[in-house]
Amino acid sequence: PSTPYLKITRSQLKQMSGRKGTDVWMALNGKVYNIEPYKEYHPGGIGELLRGSGKDGTKLFGEVHPWVNYETMLQACLVGVLVEENDVKG
Ligand code: HEM
Repeated sequence: PSTPYLKITRSQLKQMSGRKGTDVWMALNGKVYNIEPYKEYHPGGIGELLRGSGKDGTKLFGEVHPWVNYETMLQACLVGVLVEENDVKG
């Protein structure tokens, strides 16, 4: 299995909301995904999906569909892991 390599802080994640022309990233259970390629396929629609954009969407996700196997679905979209602000170096 491949190890996620990028360490991403909340403030970095916040930059990846899809505004300003960036891709859309979302954290789920400590892992950060680029959901850009997936967003048009989301059965709940883009608007719903984007409620979790640029942040930790774990709670929202779990409220709506805890049974959805996002880890398999988004395997190829894994960007890295969510870390504390002071844990980026090293
Ligand atoms: C439906 C995937 C994030 C809201 C679904 C379904 C899948 C899915 C597979 C169909 C579920 C089913 O019919 O059993 C994902 C993935 C996500 C994600 C992979 C993460 C990247 C979110 C977020 C929200 C959301 C953050 C925000 C609240 C919804 C809603 C539906 C839905 C409302 C229901 C659509 C309907 O049945 O009318 N999603 N979802 N999803 N999703 Fe997501």
